[in-house]
Amino acid sequence: MKNILVTGGAGFIGSNFILYMLEKYGDNIQIVNLDLLTYAGNLENLKAVEGDSRHSFVQGDIGDGPLVAELMEKHAIDTVINFAAESHVDRSIEDPGVFARTNVMGTVNLLSCARAAWENADGSYKAGVKFVQVSTDEVYGSLGETGYFTEETPLSPRSPYSASKASADLFVAAWSDTYGMPVNITRCSNNYGPYQFPEKLIPLMIHNAVGKKDLPVYGDGLNVRDWLYVDDHCKAIALVAEKGCPGEVYNVGGHNERTNIVIVKKIISLVGGKVDATVTESLIKYVTDRKGHDRRYAIDPAKIGAELGWKPDTAFEDGIEKTVDWYLQNGEWLSGVTSGSYRDYYDKMYGNR
Ligand code: NAD
Ligand code: DAU
Repeated sequence: MKNILVTGGAGFIGSNFILYMLEKYGDNIQIVNLDLLTYAGNLENLKAVEGDSRHSFVQGDIGDGPLVAELMEKHAIDTVINFAAESHVDRSIEDPGVFARTNVMGTVNLLSCARAAWENADGSYKAGVKFVQVSTDEVYGSLGETGYFTEETPLSPRSPYSASKASADLFVAAWSDTYGMPVNITRCSNNYGPYQFPEKLIPLMIHNAVGKKDLPVYGDGLNVRDWLYVDDHCKAIALVAEKGCPGEVYNVGGHNERTNIVIVKKIISLVGGKVDATVTESLIKYVTDRKGHDRRYAIDPAKIGAELGWKPDTAFEDGIEKTVDWYLQNGEWLSGVTSGSYRDYYDKMYGNR
């Protein structure tokens, strides 16, 4: 039986991960889900596990020392998987402070609490414990037209978001090097799939296309991202938690690079075909570029493939169609998260762009 503390489990990847783990481990798992329920956290994402005795939800901050210490002890936690974060680059450009508080200081607090709960008097650790930090390829910076990020690529974060994630990674590595705590760091490329908040490229474009609103493409639309279906990321994190060699970093990605404009045109063709033929490329609006916009990300996933046997299951053409269908079938979820403060956010970010 594993007793897992999942943080940020009401967000996009965290909620998909909880569904994935309950399915995979059946009765051999108990999950405590600690989430602050910021604008990005949503209990609607967890409707499918409502009343499931294997999952308990706690609203709270990963930076709250007494709360995390209590959860570690009360639930005899043996694995911490840290998804909780401020995750959106554009927001980090506007308001970096909360990125330092949650992504850096919150992670440091989790590390301290895990060590206090797991370290024996002689400096060894209880058997079977593991801290997994869910990080991002953005810590490596920006690539030119060729090449890939490997685990040896030097950290070179450029946005406040990626700077905060890289800082957290360094603290996690310090807990391994200094205190000998068993940790892993995963660094994944861009995820897409159900429950992603519509501030991110793919759900934002689906939402706007359905509403026949402008589709705001930053700069020349030729920045490249390496897209991975969220379930494939969840599978990788589960493998790393179970079998990852302590102290190691694993990059996660499916060799699926696309320019942003290609993604936007694909969404237009899917929404146009499924909903309304008047949704066309005329909706595309090139807007002022993101400050410091990283040009290209591309992951080399050879290590996790060779050492842990990971490979992605979902081809992009299937994943993007499944994703568009999910948003079309979950209009209520989408209207729930795009009312109220979302409108203010949208006006602030895109009103004068
Ligand atoms: P998200 O923004 O959808 O969800 C983040 C969750 O964390 C929310 O539920 C929010 O309420 C919670 N949270 C925020 N601050 C908190 C705090 N102080 N205490 C407790 N909970 C808090 O993010 P996501 O896209 O699901 O990303 C999850 C993790 O994966 C992040 O660490 C992110 O850096 C990393 N990641 C994301 C991607 C991606 O493409 N989305 C790719 C690689 C890595
Ligand atoms: O690479 C992993 C990272 O991917 C994660 O660590 C982050 O949490 C996640 O947000 C994501 O970061 P990006 O900045 O790459 O994702 P985003 O969806 O914000 O943007 C993807 C690309 O699309 C990027 O080049 C900017 C562009 N874009 C984005 C938005 C929201 C647009 O052209 N228009 C938009 O309106």
